Amino acid sequence: MNAAIASPLLALLLTLNTGAASAAADTTPGEILSSLTARAGVAPSAQRGRQFFVSRHGREWSCSTCHGELPTTPGRHAATGKSIAPLAPAFDAARFGNAAKTEKWFRRNCNDVVGRECSAAEKADVLGWLMSLQR
Ligand code: HEC
Repeated sequence: MNAAIASPLLALLLTLNTGAASAAADTTPGEILSSLTARAGVAPSAQRGRQFFVSRHGREWSCSTCHGELPTTPGRHAATGKSIAPLAPAFDAARFGNAAKTEKWFRRNCNDVVGRECSAAEKADVLGWLMSLQR
């Protein structure tokens, strides 16, 4: 193959590869928790995390409305009725494996439930609680 054909092909392959990588696993629940804890500046509390998760924050939904009070089994989306895989990482190996995905859903769901983004401390508390749920 001559270089004139090879280089656009290579560029295309590199683009496809980057696209796939952004959705693939690039982190672990433990790494996300460490980085949230560093930003929060306080140790996470599983007890506070559970309380935050099951409580309403002045709006219609709590986190548990869609994810269940004990997110070790599948949840159900309050609006669409679609099934949601268990949020606790011990019960779904794909959980908290992609930093961009986690950020995106924390942002969206906190806005829906709390009416603002969650703080690093609130996210660390919730993740600390989710990680404490074991089989
Ligand atoms: C209206 C339904 C709904 C509510 C309420 C909700 N979630 Fe979610 N959540 C989803 C959906 C849908 C997804 C994306 C699909 C998936 O990951 O299974 C998701 C994904 C997530 C993820 C991504 C996990 C990962 O693997 O990276 C996190 C974190 C999360 N939610 C936390 C929360 C927290 C914290 C609250 C409360 C502040 C909350 N959610 C409230 C529907 C909801």
